[in-house]
Amino acid sequence: MINTSDFDYVRNLVQLKSAIVLESGKEALVESRLTLLARREGIESVDKLLSQLRSHNYSRLHEQVVEVMTTNETLFFRDIYPYEAMRTTVIPDLIKKRATEHRLTIWSAGCSSGQEPYSIAMLLREYFSHLNGWSIKIIASDLSKEILARAQDGRYSQFEVNRGLPAPLLVKYFHQNGVEWQIKDEIRRMVEFSDVNLADGWPLFLSVDVLFMRNVLIYFSIDTRKEILARVRKTLRPDGFLFLGAAETTLNLDDSFMRVSFDKGWCYKLNTPINT
Ligand SMILES: C[S@@+](CC[C@H](N)C(=O)[O-])C[C@H]1O[C@@H](n2cnc3c(N)ncnc32)[C@H](O)[C@@H]1O
Repeated sequence: MINTSDFDYVRNLVQLKSAIVLESGKEALVESRLTLLARREGIESVDKLLSQLRSHNYSRLHEQVVEVMTTNETLFFRDIYPYEAMRTTVIPDLIKKRATEHRLTIWSAGCSSGQEPYSIAMLLREYFSHLNGWSIKIIASDLSKEILARAQDGRYSQFEVNRGLPAPLLVKYFHQNGVEWQIKDEIRRMVEFSDVNLADGWPLFLSVDVLFMRNVLIYFSIDTRKEILARVRKTLRPDGFLFLGAAETTLNLDDSFMRVSFDKGWCYKLNTPINT
């Protein structure tokens, strides 16, 4: 098993570069992911990998260590209620509010392999195709360059498309390519990908109408969650919508958000919306 000094080295590196907290007790997980990385990079052993890391300045190898420690679990239309809320309430509300500017910006932050932003894109294509003349931006970002490249590829296994994707949407928006399913260009082109580390500088997206930041905050410390929510406050339009994961909340972290309930599920809005 990885020794305490090596575990601490890795956990400090990961926390410094991604804000992800690796709790004590995760030694076996860290070791197995380092083993996979060493094998992939043709490095003899985890010990050799660690000594290479320790003896070099920050490099792509350090970055890869951080990336392999991320949890990329995701699925199409995850939890379904955010998408139901988007269809029945959020997008119709924004269509009214943005009737003169004809512009919407949706950001999937921590998008993993792309199922989340593509679910949003398919939902817009299915139910809001009449917004043809609108400028609709779906931005998808992640810390991991590797997972982002997968997202951009838009190729999924049978197992992945079986998770959450309704069969009619599979037939309509994917074509089969050997044992995989390739998302069609008409959906892929709706999404712009970008590598953004939420714990680092954020890009100056003009302003975001809907922010999906789902199942990301759970990996961070309380202080980092607070810092990130403070940035969300500045990035989200005053009447915008924030979707967090089912196990995440702004409660006790940031008083400027309130919880808004839908038929099923909820999202967060800023407390003092100003009509823009
Ligand atoms: C569990 S997945 C969630 C994917 C999707 N949002 C969902 O709910 O299905 C978490 C994602 O957050 C990304 N992530 C972790 N730390 C991050 C950071 N500091 N900045 C940006 N993305 C990060 C991981 O790479 C991973 O792809």
